[in-house]
Amino acid sequence: MTNTKKSIHGEWSSRSAFILAATGSAVGLGNIWKFPYITGENGGGAFVIVYLLCVALIGIPIMIAETMLGRRGRENPVHTMQVLSAEADADKRWHYLGWLGMAAGLLILSYYSVIAGWASAYVFKAFSGSFFGADVTAVEQLFSDFVGNPMQLIFWHTLFMVATMLIVARGVGDGLEKSVRILMPGLFILLALLVMYAMTTSGYFQGIHFLFSLDFNKLTGNAILIAMGQAFFSLGLGMGCVMVYGAYLPKNISIAKASIVIAAVDSLVALLAGIIIFPIVFTYGLNPGSGPGLIFETLPIAFGSMTGGWLFGVLFFVILVFAALSSAIALIEPTVCWLVESKGITRGLACLQSGVVTWLLGFCTIFSFNIWSDVKIFDHTLFEALDYLTANVMLPVGGFAIAVFAGWMMKQQHSAQELDIPSQHYQIWLFLIKYMAPAAVFLVFLHVMGVL
Ligand code: PHE
Repeated sequence: MTNTKKSIHGEWSSRSAFILAATGSAVGLGNIWKFPYITGENGGGAFVIVYLLCVALIGIPIMIAETMLGRRGRENPVHTMQVLSAEADADKRWHYLGWLGMAAGLLILSYYSVIAGWASAYVFKAFSGSFFGADVTAVEQLFSDFVGNPMQLIFWHTLFMVATMLIVARGVGDGLEKSVRILMPGLFILLALLVMYAMTTSGYFQGIHFLFSLDFNKLTGNAILIAMGQAFFSLGLGMGCVMVYGAYLPKNISIAKASIVIAAVDSLVALLAGIIIFPIVFTYGLNPGSGPGLIFETLPIAFGSMTGGWLFGVLFFVILVFAALSSAIALIEPTVCWLVESKGITRGLACLQSGVVTWLLGFCTIFSFNIWSDVKIFDHTLFEALDYLTANVMLPVGGFAIAVFAGWMMKQQHSAQELDIPSQHYQIWLFLIKYMAPAAVFLVFLHVMGVL
């Protein structure tokens, strides 16, 4: 089959448009909010190395595979897997992979939107001067008062979901592409400024040491799973989102090169976030393992004390919200794409339906920070359980299945044709996707279950 089919949702206008949008989906709260706090909780340096290894050896090959499957199938993840398994004479049940992915996307978005809501609220807190001259106690108080109030969280979560739905309803070119073009450069400029600020703090070297020193004693089996889960989460892999973005990809673009660029940018943003946060943590004697509130309890101190901090504070949280938006639209796109293609409903209605479900699910996360904070599943709050289930179980399982399908089921002649890279490079990819990635995911699971 030579594939001349195009997606009914349109196509990216150019290579840079695809890279921008895919980077937009990758770069988000995962890099700036989640990476620093899980690094803090898991002891720093050794965790960071394991994370980077997972990105290089598991993440990039799977990203190439997932984009390739999407471009060859050209439809939503469920149909794409149906088409491709028929082409490969493989079992029909491979399409369950599409379902797993869509479920993971909605579950992740349900809490992602709540945290993006926090960032939105912080835009206004920064704007109204709440951080001005604030010390550690004031900033911690501000945060705990805020998350302790369910009505506030519901308000911001709702606002963020409405914004996401409005953008997704407008479709690929208009909604997704334009929003990222301005955001990415803006994000980099602000991060660079904040890194310069971090370099002036007294805890700078301690922060850098924490982030890059290799103390493998602190690394538990569970930490390895969390690092791997974060590689999947941050690159947005294993849930069909890279697959639908691949479906909108024109033929003449090199999937391998694009994937490497995207993974590099994504990891760079995460490291920069760490380089900014940890010096502040050590300068003010904060606890690096304080959890999901980490950036909300550290950055305001910096904004409150630096020159021009008011402006930087507002800009930072604005950009964070936009970065979250460009990831949120990717999280819901597989489901919207599937609803439109298989139920024949309009994009608008598809957005509304999936949006309402996700919005309601979000209440579990909201309440887990206040009125349901005592509700525990295996010692985890509802938010923690959702995060663990999606990032550390569903995404790696989805990624494992993608690797097995691309490496073992799909005919090599098809993957080689689709990737169109020099044969040596193809052989490297094939080795990584056939053996390295599936084995690594499997071993990490065995290790966490105590078998290994
Ligand atoms: N990669 C995004 C982030 O780091 C989150 C995401 C996960 C987006 C899965 C799409 C798919 O914030």
